[in-house]
Amino acid sequence: MTLPALAEKKLAGEPIVMVTAYDLPSARAAEEAGVDLVLAGDTAAMTVLGYSTTVPVTLDEMLVLTKAVRRGLDTPFLVGDLPFGSYERSHEQAVESAQRLVKEAGCEAVKFEGPAADRAGAIVSAGIPVMGHLGLTPQTATALGGYRAQARSSDAARKLLDDSLALQAAGCFAVVLEAVPSQVGGAVTERLEIPTIGIGAGPRTDGQVLVLNDLLGLFEDFKPRFVKRYAELADEMGRAVTAFAQKVRHRRFPAGEHCYEMEPGELERFLDALEERDD
Ligand code: KIV
Repeated sequence: MTLPALAEKKLAGEPIVMVTAYDLPSARAAEEAGVDLVLAGDTAAMTVLGYSTTVPVTLDEMLVLTKAVRRGLDTPFLVGDLPFGSYERSHEQAVESAQRLVKEAGCEAVKFEGPAADRAGAIVSAGIPVMGHLGLTPQTATALGGYRAQARSSDAARKLLDDSLALQAAGCFAVVLEAVPSQVGGAVTERLEIPTIGIGAGPRTDGQVLVLNDLLGLFEDFKPRFVKRYAELADEMGRAVTAFAQKVRHRRFPAGEHCYEMEPGELERFLDALEERDD
């Protein structure tokens, strides 16, 4: 996947598929499914690292996870996520953090949350493609009044459109729209030349993204309205580990096929040696 191919998809009206990934197995699943974009998202903070929000995760932690995703990906376009505190202080800080995601983790682009078009422009000027993220921006959810839908009033919807246009003018190649009314997702999508990727932004955005652990049913702490689970892997994992524990406790694991044999004749020699030692 390339940026021109992505832009082409919007022009052709072909839906764009994006998922998050946090490690080798999830990257391989994304690769196998042939998705267009993979986001090594800061939702890893909650889905993988066990923090209660995305705020605490550091750039160093994101780098470890993003490198693992890179190792499992070949075809999809890999977007690294700038975590809270890694881009807000100055253009220099943002460019430095973006460069680390590109140089150390092999990302092809970065994403950051919020309407800071000048910040996006600074990263783009440094030669790094940027994906915007507007609507519900979880890193600043407290300031937004909690994890709730955004742009529900006419004024807020107009601001969202203005912010989207500003990110586009700053050189962003796409923008994620999170938790906004479908009509707003559609209206912004129609007015932008760059693709919109919706998560809870209705069916008219150019693409859709879901957090992988949500769609797999691996993250069960809460389920936003926009999540559809395509599997129940947390239950499946629980069943598998319980089955293993039961087999071990009943001495039914390991079976013969899981065990190694000594070389021919060596068992007898070993038993003789043991007998001698025990005498
Ligand atoms: O970090 C993430 O997973 C995201 C998605 C919600 C788009 O930003």
